[in-house]
Amino acid sequence: MKDVSINVSEKELSAIKALDFVRGNKTIGLGTGSTTAIFIKKLGEKIQKENLNILTCTTSFQSFLLAKEAGIPVYPVSYFSELDLSVDGADEVDPNFQLIKGGGAAHTMEKIVHSMSKTFVCIVDSTKQVSKLGEKFPIPVEILPEAISSVKKQLLEMGARDVQLRMAVKKDGPVITDNGNFVLDVRFDNFDPKDLEIRIKSIPGVVENGIFAIYRPHYVIVGGKELKRD
Ligand code: 5RP
Repeated sequence: MKDVSINVSEKELSAIKALDFVRGNKTIGLGTGSTTAIFIKKLGEKIQKENLNILTCTTSFQSFLLAKEAGIPVYPVSYFSELDLSVDGADEVDPNFQLIKGGGAAHTMEKIVHSMSKTFVCIVDSTKQVSKLGEKFPIPVEILPEAISSVKKQLLEMGARDVQLRMAVKKDGPVITDNGNFVLDVRFDNFDPKDLEIRIKSIPGVVENGIFAIYRPHYVIVGGKELKRD
């Protein structure tokens, strides 16, 4: 559903720029996706080169394996109650630094980790910039499998234009998240991000949704250019 091969050079520039934030930080949360994957690799190199004493946690099995491969010390998320820094990609970024995430179905752990972070840095390429959330990307909603019919009904009653169960590639049936759940990709035509984030979250059976309007990044790096939130 997302094309990870787009704008690799801009993703790389953003990942490299985010390394500037790794200075005297002790604890770092690592997001998920192709842009974060570049950051993880470069962070591993920086840790070895500068002999840094850093503890990390990851938001997915993908990032855990990448971090291990890069020689980065990884602890369970449950080990931390707060983090100095977290770095992650996004599927859409609006001018108010509100995000849609979850293209990799890791948004539940990502929201937990970014909510714990003193400095959340979002790294993207310029294709992720939108004037309004939902312009290109649907909202990923992680749900308990048993609740699929009732959640779908409530989303449609709430005004969703389209609700699709995310299907797996190279496996029959739906995508199963790292938490053992399903993902619905939901389209709404016009919405207030913060209001919709809260309303979707209140549906019984919803674990988390991919709107990041409450826990927005403090910095967004677009193709290597750093922007700071007001
Ligand atoms: C995973 C995410 C990713 O951060 C998002 O999909 C962006 O990924 P990429 O850097 O590959 O474009 O939210 O759940």
